[in-house]
Amino acid sequence: MNKPEAKKRIEKLQGQIEDLRYRYHVLNDPSVTDDIKDSLEKELKGLEVEFPDLVDIHSPTNRVAGTPLDKFVKVQHAVRMLSLNDVFNEEELNEWEVRVKKLLPEDKRETVQFFCEVKLDGLAVSLIYKDGVFVQGATRGDGFVGEDVTQNLRTIESIPLKLYFNLQKSPLARILSSNNYLEVRGEIVMRRSVLKELNVRQEKEGKSLFANTRNAAAGAVRQLDRSLTAQRRLDFFAYDIVQSEMDGVKFPFATHSTKHEILADLGFKVYPHDEITKDLDEVKKVLKKIGKLREKFDYGTDGVVVSVDESELQGQLGIVGKAPRYMIAYKYPAEKATTQVLDISVRVGRTGVLTPVAHFKPTLVAGSTVAKATLHNIDQIERLGLRIGDTVVIQKAGDVIPEVVEVLLKLRTGKEKKFKMASHCPVCGGVVEQRVAASKKDTQSVAYFCTNQQCPAKNSRGMQHFVTIFEIYEVGPKILDRFQKEGLISDAADLFTLGKEDIQGLDRFGEKSAENIVKSIQDHKKQPLAKFIYALGILHVGEQTAEDLAKYFHTLEKAMGASVEDINSVENIGPVVSKSVYDYFHTKENLVYIQKLLKNGVSVESYKLVASSLKLSGKTFVITGTLSAMSRDEAKKKIKALGGKVTESVSKQTSYVVVGTEPGSKANKAEQLGVKILDEQKFLDIL
Ligand code: IVH
Repeated sequence: MNKPEAKKRIEKLQGQIEDLRYRYHVLNDPSVTDDIKDSLEKELKGLEVEFPDLVDIHSPTNRVAGTPLDKFVKVQHAVRMLSLNDVFNEEELNEWEVRVKKLLPEDKRETVQFFCEVKLDGLAVSLIYKDGVFVQGATRGDGFVGEDVTQNLRTIESIPLKLYFNLQKSPLARILSSNNYLEVRGEIVMRRSVLKELNVRQEKEGKSLFANTRNAAAGAVRQLDRSLTAQRRLDFFAYDIVQSEMDGVKFPFATHSTKHEILADLGFKVYPHDEITKDLDEVKKVLKKIGKLREKFDYGTDGVVVSVDESELQGQLGIVGKAPRYMIAYKYPAEKATTQVLDISVRVGRTGVLTPVAHFKPTLVAGSTVAKATLHNIDQIERLGLRIGDTVVIQKAGDVIPEVVEVLLKLRTGKEKKFKMASHCPVCGGVVEQRVAASKKDTQSVAYFCTNQQCPAKNSRGMQHFVTIFEIYEVGPKILDRFQKEGLISDAADLFTLGKEDIQGLDRFGEKSAENIVKSIQDHKKQPLAKFIYALGILHVGEQTAEDLAKYFHTLEKAMGASVEDINSVENIGPVVSKSVYDYFHTKENLVYIQKLLKNGVSVESYKLVASSLKLSGKTFVITGTLSAMSRDEAKKKIKALGGKVTESVSKQTSYVVVGTEPGSKANKAEQLGVKILDEQKFLDIL
């Protein structure tokens, strides 16, 4: 075969393989078997070896091949990946409808349609296609920045590498498949049946079992070696198109349901059973129907996503915090099961708190096997009246951790044993002390603490927490343990003194990895006040409380010098939390530790600096046309950095429409709606 012939044959084979893949993995067509696809792939591989310059990196033969990665690179999402607010019953759903309708124009209130789709229990990812070719896949991360998992996602057969078949179906799909830019969002999931097989294998190999399909899927996506991802046989279901542009012009989608149709036409798997409904009564019927069906689904589902179908109305409803107003997740109630408590052990947390954990006979509940559950504290054990040996009711709802809800007293034999909290720490033997602790709502309860400041459990958990908050991802728990054992560090502050030479001498650390570790530590020395406070691991101070403290006190010095009363006057902070904060900043060891962090190079940005620069907060921008001073993405980043929001479509809620050269119809729309228009110069002035 000569080269031109080979080229033609390769293209034919690629098209045919892609078509078979689509029919097998997306349409579940039983008439297709993997053998034919394998055989065609073999021929294609042969041709690719013979004619290496005809190899296309997007070829179906290139799903799994490649060397493992060292780490995942971070990627910024062009459009934030939001989450959803949950409702747990019909009443809360009704309340959502009332809130939504209040905000809609009067003439829309009666005609608004709701779209219902199954909520899959997996891992959200974004897929970017340029000119119809899959170029980047990323995890959600914190919604703004995720991890680049492109290579791993390429191994998933239900993700099209190229959008080049099935084109005849809808004209829009045809345009979008050759579009310059398309971002699709969806869920990576694992079949329950695949999980079962996987767990049988894990057990045989003496490895720990996966608790549920979501954990197994998430773990598989985060493998540095993509061949491991491939082995897990994951699936992808698309549920949204967030960006689609051709030559800078955005494609309008009138409704969310049309996006689902187009996604299917483009060759994505879209979960069946979605429905457009006319009113909430119909929504409730769908919820009931899916509620019954889902028990038989091979994919884990935890609810139904209900949204206002019309895009324009979605735009008017907007987003509050992390979640859109126009969309809600209806969650099915938790499933329950009974099991026996075999033992109660004690875990030591990063603040030194001792938490009792119940161990069960492994039991299947809500699609996953549960073998233990936290009992939170002694009060909880007393409230339940729980004894070791008791038969209990446990419950688990989708992504919620399992909990013990009831003891079946009638099944007692008399041999059950009362649990007694240890007087000494199970990790270091240090003296255990009782203190008053606070729950989220600042109600009080008694908790037990290890008093040994040097307790290794406390220390290593505290350090793990610190590096996570400081985003020093190169230093995971194993490395921390190793450094601690080698005597390189005794607390997180020591990390900042480490040099390449300290690390590269250790067994299994090369020069490159030592360099990466040191760089990762040094690159994250500067932190905003809220993160710094959160990273200290002060008892009862989570992310939000740290943020509230930073907002109120502005500088570390002021926070450290505050009286209990001062702290108590911070919004959302009650007496137990304020005492804990005050005590932390008035304990000698902690002050020494903070001084050591600062001396070793950690610098804390005052809150004021951040706050004063957020001059665009509350403002919504739409950009249309080409800007000369910067790309659209840069402009978006700048607006976001100043606290502003960028949306794609103009509505009455838009504060400004920035108009570059060759603007689209958005400029006209802005004029119609009376939204303020900025030319590029005025926009730059604002920035
Ligand atoms: S729409 C604003 N549709 O649920 C986020 N999400 O609780 C838009 N999920 O992060 C998501 N199935 O990972 C949507 N059919 C579906 C979904 C779905 C599962 C997940 C998704 C999201 C989470 C929000």
